[in-house]
Amino acid sequence: MGRRKSTLKDFENRFIIGDCEEVMKTMPEKSIDLVLTSPPYADQRDYGRTESSIDPNDYVKWFIPKAKQIYKLLKDDGSFVLNINDKVVDGFQHLYVFELVVALCNQVGFHLVRDYIWYNPATPPNVYSRGGYGRTKKSHEYCFWFAKSDKWTFDMDPIRKPYSKDMQKYLEGKGKGDRNQNTRPSTHNFNCEKVWTNNGGADPGSVIEIANTSSNDMFIKLCKEKHIAHPARFPEKLAEFFILSGSMEGEIVLDPFSGSGTTAAVASKNNRRWIGIDANSEYCELASARLEQEEEERQAADKEGEIANDQSDK
Ligand SMILES: C[S@@+](CC[C@H](N)C(=O)[O-])C[C@H]1O[C@@H](n2cnc3c(N)ncnc32)[C@H](O)[C@@H]1O
Repeated sequence: MGRRKSTLKDFENRFIIGDCEEVMKTMPEKSIDLVLTSPPYADQRDYGRTESSIDPNDYVKWFIPKAKQIYKLLKDDGSFVLNINDKVVDGFQHLYVFELVVALCNQVGFHLVRDYIWYNPATPPNVYSRGGYGRTKKSHEYCFWFAKSDKWTFDMDPIRKPYSKDMQKYLEGKGKGDRNQNTRPSTHNFNCEKVWTNNGGADPGSVIEIANTSSNDMFIKLCKEKHIAHPARFPEKLAEFFILSGSMEGEIVLDPFSGSGTTAAVASKNNRRWIGIDANSEYCELASARLEQEEEERQAADKEGEIANDQSDK
């Protein structure tokens, strides 16, 4: 008898231990709505795995087979968001990130929708900050949003920013600028009618400002309890930006390099289904404990809210 073909249910809402390329090969094609991930960057620590770090010159070769699996798993209207950073090698910024973006489009078939900058204003001073290397410190990372086809899910509303005070006044028919004359709040003319409609908030643009300050939260306590050194997490706010705009409730989000489970935690909190894959079994254990604990906290908060409501009704 042949082996039963796996279905998505076999993977859903679980952390799978293993090499993501191999695990993805066993998953059903065109089943995933959004892939959001941050793979190990070139030359960085190997996160407790035996495999040594990836040489920047080999990075594209290393990543492309994994990207082909990602492409295969995505539904036709699915997206792939890649958080990555480069590094200085022999005095200059290595080009592997840019080479990878070109290869993802030319060799795998992805379409680049937008390059986003994650600006971290809390980047501490480092060797570059002395000025001796002819450059500043780097205070941002990249997030590249790719689509599989010419149609992809996108909802701006959950990620809109509050309007500026001037814009708010303008939309209320007060302040400078005249909507009938199609002028900006600054009184400059703006030759495009629909831009000044009140959409409930402004387009957040392509620079995402999030300070990456890992506070002494529940996750850090978990790491201490389990004696596991935690992986480099990305902030929940960054995952939220892409999950809320790039997937709808009930849809399924995959992170093939899931580390501490940030993508899964944010997906779960926002009523998406999720799958995490990581080669490091301790990280999978940590991430599962994180999700369980967060779910317990949510249930306790819901119960408290119900009790408070009941009491206020009496
Ligand atoms: C930058 S970390 C991801 C951190 C994650 N975004 C978070 O917020 O915790 C990269 C992860 O990739 C995992 N990893 C490295 N090579 C892998 C592979 N071939 N397959 C699956 N996971 C891998 C590492 O164990 C590490 O946890």
